Amino acid sequence: MAERDAASRHLPVLLQRCVDLLAPALAEPGSVMIDATLGMGGHTEGVLEALPHVRVVGIDRDPEALRLASARLARFGDRFTPVHAVYDEIPEVLERLDLPGVQGVLMDLGVSSLQLDEAGRGFAYAQDAPLDMRMDPTRGRTAAEVLNTYDEADLARVLREYGEERFAGRIARRIVQAREKAPLERTSELVDLVRAGIPAAARQTGGNPAKRTFQALRIEVNDELAVLARAVPAAVEALVVGGRIVVESYQSLEDRLVKRAFAAGAEISAPPGLPVVPETHAPFLRLLTRGAEEADAAELARNPRSQSVRLRAAERLRPTPEHLRPGRGDAGSTGGPGGRRPDRTRAPRAPRSPNGPRRTA
Ligand SMILES: C[S@@+](CC[C@H](N)C(=O)[O-])C[C@H]1O[C@@H](n2cnc3c(N)ncnc32)[C@H](O)[C@@H]1O
Repeated sequence: MAERDAASRHLPVLLQRCVDLLAPALAEPGSVMIDATLGMGGHTEGVLEALPHVRVVGIDRDPEALRLASARLARFGDRFTPVHAVYDEIPEVLERLDLPGVQGVLMDLGVSSLQLDEAGRGFAYAQDAPLDMRMDPTRGRTAAEVLNTYDEADLARVLREYGEERFAGRIARRIVQAREKAPLERTSELVDLVRAGIPAAARQTGGNPAKRTFQALRIEVNDELAVLARAVPAAVEALVVGGRIVVESYQSLEDRLVKRAFAAGAEISAPPGLPVVPETHAPFLRLLTRGAEEADAAELARNPRSQSVRLRAAERLRPTPEHLRPGRGDAGSTGGPGGRRPDRTRAPRAPRSPNGPRRTA
C-alpha cells in the first residue's frame, strides 16, 4: 500500500521536539501550519495527530513525494492540503489559498529517503543511475547537464563550495578530460572519476570519496542554497505575531543560512548607544533554541538520519519593521526606516514555473 510505503521509508527526525516547539503557536482552532518540506508526510502526520484542530499546507517540489504523502494523509480529509511548489514560493502559495498568514512553519531540509532510495533518480553514489538529481524531475537542468557544460573552474567551485571537497580542482580536471571523449551519463562514471581524482592516501579515510561530490552537485542542480536564503525570510514573513518556525538542517552551509536569518530578526536593528530602542528597531523574532539543537542518544539509536541534524526555532514577536522586510536593499542593515512599500508577503512575484505553485488536491 502506497501510504504504508511512505510511512516505512522515513522516520521523521526529532518529531516530538518539532511538535512541542510548534504546539503553543497552534493552540487556537483554525490554526494553519505550512510544512515546507512535506516529503513522505511524517512530520505532518505527527502534527495532524497531536493537534486535531490544526490544518497543514504541505509543500514539496517533488511530485512523487506529494503523491505518496497525499495517500498517507488522505484520512485527515481537508485538514491537509498538498501543494506542488518550491518553498521560496510560500508567499504565492498563501495568496492562492487566500491565507493572510500562518501560525507555524516547519522545514526539514535536504533529500528524503524516498529520493535516495529510488535508484533511477541519481542521488545515491552507491547505485548506478542516470545523472539526474533533480528533486522535481519535471523541470530544471540535470546533473549530467551541469557536468557536461560547466567549465572546469565552475565545476571546481561547485565541488569546493558545496561539497567542501579538498580535491575539487583535480576532480574537475578528470571530469573535463572524460567528457571530451563522451558526455557523462551515469552516476557510476562519476564515482570512478572522483576516485581517480583523489590521491590514494586520502581515499582511505572519510567514507566514500564520492559523497562530497554528490552532495555538491545535488545542491547546484536544485539551487538549494539560493532558494533557502530566500525561503527562510519568506517563511518568517508568513508568520502571524505569535507564530513559530522550526528548521532542521543537515549540513553546515544550510544551518549557517538559517542561523543568520533568525539572528537578523532577533537583534536590535538600531545603531548601538541609543538610550531607548525605538519600536521600529526592536527584535521581531525570539529564538526558541539555544544555538542549534542536536539529536540525543535515544533519537540517534532510533533514527540514523538524525546524526547530522541541527534544529533551530524562533517565534514572531511583532511585525517585521519596514526596513528589514525581505527584498529591501538595506535589509539587515542598521540604517533608519525606509519609505513605505507594499507588504512583501502579499506582493506578487514572478513564478518559478510557467504554472506557478500548483495545488494538487
Ligand atoms: C528530508 S525530506 C522531508 C521529510 C518529511 N519531513 C517527512 O517527515 O517525511 C525533504 C523534502 O523536502 C523537499 N524539498 C527540498 N527542497 C525543497 C524546496 N526548495 N522546495 C520544496 N520542497 C523541497 C524534498 O523534495 C523532500 O521531499
